Amino acid sequence: MDKSLLNNSQGSSQLIPKHVHGEDSPMKVLDLCQINKRFMGGGMSQSYSALYFFEYYIEHYGFEYIVEIGTQKGALSLFFANMAAVTERFFFDTFDISDEDYYDRSVEGVGHWFREICKISPYCNFFRWDIFSKGAMSRIQIESEDKKTLIFCDGGDKVREMDIYGGILKPGDHIILHDWQSEVFADHIAAILEKHHIKYNHPYIDYCMEAGTLLMPFIKM
Ligand SMILES: C[S@@+](CC[C@H](N)C(=O)[O-])C[C@H]1O[C@@H](n2cnc3c(N)ncnc32)[C@H](O)[C@@H]1O
Repeated sequence: MDKSLLNNSQGSSQLIPKHVHGEDSPMKVLDLCQINKRFMGGGMSQSYSALYFFEYYIEHYGFEYIVEIGTQKGALSLFFANMAAVTERFFFDTFDISDEDYYDRSVEGVGHWFREICKISPYCNFFRWDIFSKGAMSRIQIESEDKKTLIFCDGGDKVREMDIYGGILKPGDHIILHDWQSEVFADHIAAILEKHHIKYNHPYIDYCMEAGTLLMPFIKM
């Protein structure tokens, strides 16, 4: 092994707390419920409690196609991509419009590794595309047509994402919104739910709220 390959540089992102724990800073169980964490050394705008939710939610509903709107640093994308590749049960697409290199290691981005995963696995794809572009809408419409689908709305305009993709999805497909009650509130989406026949997925709401995930799950009827 070539020791010169080891990289000791720490990502510089201010968004991701470094949380180096030690005698003066003991780990706390409630840390699992905090948003903006490092996961596998990459930056993630989620809590660890959200990963537990996604693991079992995906298994329970048997999705065949999962779309993440908003890749950012990509550690959550790595979670979905690895789950897709390990289980071989679903395809995963992640989209981000940003030219800023959030994807870079210097800010705890995981792009260097995500690109490799996309090369070796037919289950994962990254698109540097606007989610409202014709290309993105057409890809998602075509790919979701024959697959049970979950859209995770975590981009720049979650209400519009829900409106556009809520219109494209089939009955039985799901949408999960992020930043519930911090950025998006029930009255922002009430008309969209009615227009596209979308309902709150009640059995999961208590966990999502109590575990501080800021996630809210919905099903298209
Ligand atoms: C909160 S971050 C996503 C966090 C990521 N899902 C995670 O859990 O770590 C939001 C991302 O959405 C992207 N975004 C904003 N508007 C977009 C659009 N129209 N299309 C695609 N991505 C968009 C931003 O560039 C930003 O990286």
